[in-house]
Amino acid sequence: MDQRDKDELKKEILEKVKQYYNVAHKPGQDAEYVRGETKVNYSGRVYDSDELVNLVSSSLDFWLTAGPYASDLQGKLAEFFGVHKAYLVNSGSSANLIIISVLRSKQYRNQLHPGDEVITPAVTFPTTLTPIVQNGLIPVFVDCELATYNIDASQVEAAIGEKTKAIFVPHTLGNPVDLDILQDIADRKRLVLIEDCCDAFGATFDGKPVGSFGVMSSLSFYPAHQMTMGEGGAVIVNEPELARIALSIRDWGRDCWCEPGSNDTCGNRFNFQYGDLPFGDDHKYVYSNLGYNLKVTDMQAAIGVAQFEKINGFVDARRDNFNFYYENLKDLEEFLILPKWSDKANPSWFGFPLTVREGVDFDKLICSLEGVKIETRKVFAGNILKHPGFKGIANRVHGTLENTDIIMNRAFFIGVYPGLKPAMRQFVLERIRAFFGK
Ligand SMILES: Cc1ncc(COP(=O)(O)O)c(C=O)c1O
Repeated sequence: MDQRDKDELKKEILEKVKQYYNVAHKPGQDAEYVRGETKVNYSGRVYDSDELVNLVSSSLDFWLTAGPYASDLQGKLAEFFGVHKAYLVNSGSSANLIIISVLRSKQYRNQLHPGDEVITPAVTFPTTLTPIVQNGLIPVFVDCELATYNIDASQVEAAIGEKTKAIFVPHTLGNPVDLDILQDIADRKRLVLIEDCCDAFGATFDGKPVGSFGVMSSLSFYPAHQMTMGEGGAVIVNEPELARIALSIRDWGRDCWCEPGSNDTCGNRFNFQYGDLPFGDDHKYVYSNLGYNLKVTDMQAAIGVAQFEKINGFVDARRDNFNFYYENLKDLEEFLILPKWSDKANPSWFGFPLTVREGVDFDKLICSLEGVKIETRKVFAGNILKHPGFKGIANRVHGTLENTDIIMNRAFFIGVYPGLKPAMRQFVLERIRAFFGK
């Protein structure tokens, strides 16, 4: 069989894959929405035959490790953010681990040391915090704002101590933090600003994508997020020095930067002295960082390439669903705190958050929604310090965590993902309004 025959056969297979998508996956007429019986998910993957075709095409290539699709997507992400490099990784959690590990690397000119502090909000996702703790750094918790669910930027400067070296903030539920304030503080106080954009892909602040402000930022491509690769994420790196370290930590900690399957990209593979190794030791297997293997397969990246093409449409659909809830719940402010965002922000909503006012029975509201198959979720982990795994970690708390506890006790969100059908959001709206007798 020559190359032409193989190409023809592949084309035929991929044509069949499209047909298969139509019969097996396409959201169909038979998937009718039944109020109270069909689940209204808070999120989920949204895809068509493009993702399936890319996935099968990549599996037929049988590259397996990160390959052409991964390189393609990395390039597209770096361009999207206007940054030096984007590296694909197997999760948003891994992206955060790499970012904090970069700050602790010996190769980083401003290397952080055990006991150095990182300012971060107490309403957070566990794996935004975990790498800080694991790397021997001390989280300094700052309270969050009600309604934006973000770190209270006005308290950050006062939280800085002698050992404070970095600020690591998630853009909660896709709502950008006040980057004017945080960037100004970071510049004046010489702190490293890092953004966790796992929930915020597509959001902008002052017209610029969030994720391009900090020196590094993370993305998650888990199915609940703005785009998915199944499992996956990315590290966005704004500085060449940090990019090299991030790549090393992602790829076992090695010094070499060859792509999988290639050798001697540096042209000096056997020509250098590294540490106490024999002169000329193989550069491919010299380790200059405490690293991991956090790479993706090319099949994951293949799905990501197809999803990336749709990102603007996905984000717009989320904004449209968000606006629908916002406009139609505005008159319930006596019972509910509606979400807020900065004038400069164009959020990429992960969900529609609400906090019930004092006196409203939070549990009853949640049960009334879940009871008719409307999924609800708490905002991140609530107050992360209340979780068993985080009890007793070395930390410092600046001020009080009053709002953090209110968010833990009285806030939740509902879905705005592109898979939400008009009939679903109408039902959700009616149930919330009915709960308040409206
Ligand atoms: C703010 C934030 N950071 C990190 C993560 C971790 O991402 P992953 O689930 O891909 O590990 C998540 C997950 O949703 C998140 O919401």
